[in-house]
Amino acid sequence: MEGLTTTKSPFIEKAQHEGKRFIRQPYELYSDENHTAWANLYSRIQPRWKRYANPKFLEGVAKLNIDPDKVPRIEDINNFLKPLTGFSAKPVSGYIPAYLFFDCLRNREFPTTITVRDISKLDYLPEPDMFHDVAGHVPMHTDTEFADTLVRFGECALSAALMIQELKDRELQVQRAKSVIKAMARFFWFTIEFGLIRSGKELRAYGSGLLSSYGELAYSLDSPEVQRYPIQLEWAVNQYFEIDKYQPLLFIVDSFDHLFSLVGELEKWVKDGKVSNVSPGEPFVSDSDVESFLSAKL
Ligand SMILES: [Fe+2]
Repeated sequence: MEGLTTTKSPFIEKAQHEGKRFIRQPYELYSDENHTAWANLYSRIQPRWKRYANPKFLEGVAKLNIDPDKVPRIEDINNFLKPLTGFSAKPVSGYIPAYLFFDCLRNREFPTTITVRDISKLDYLPEPDMFHDVAGHVPMHTDTEFADTLVRFGECALSAALMIQELKDRELQVQRAKSVIKAMARFFWFTIEFGLIRSGKELRAYGSGLLSSYGELAYSLDSPEVQRYPIQLEWAVNQYFEIDKYQPLLFIVDSFDHLFSLVGELEKWVKDGKVSNVSPGEPFVSDSDVESFLSAKL
């Protein structure tokens, strides 16, 4: 069995080589090792989800009937998910340029990796895998407010692309696009990927980077080494981050309604030019990210 492993997958390599971004999930290709890796990841994290995940996430997990023993079929997940919020998981072969990614969200589609991390490295994750995308992200998409927030990110990207394409000078377009993409990517990172939320008197995780990491989920909420602050838009959009370490700084939202309104605020800032020159540093914005905004058909 060739397997669909993050570090080695002939099917994915072929799709990437042929330039196919959106693909199917060739379920028959998963190896026994892929299924075992999934089962191990899933069973290991259960007690931590119960202790550290926000209640909406736990409700989402129950609603999706995720298979604990085998790699889930995306089609099965979508059959449960779609009637709830209109969202569906959409299999992809790898990285999706920024505008296309946000545009998928606007259309209630979530680009989803279909490979599973190597069984010998359950804790080391150089790039998203299916456990991150399906077990970490998708349960939140069962919640209406959260789903609407993702759509709002997509609308924000649309406003940004309109603003950028209206500019006459190509150099200025590129500079503006780089800054706006950086701002949006940072805000997405500190909320959807690594966000904390108030739950009564306690804090809980809703960011998928935390919810899909056995180690960091506990660390993010228990460790005295982590700085946890109420989110401020002007801070998050200017704050750089490193993806290969546990996060030293996390931001807290009061509720998903609060998060939704912040994305609306971000969209306003995009239109007003307030994030047209954010501070430099991570994340890296690639040429294909910039081009995706400049050439988007609006
Ligand atoms: Fe993610």
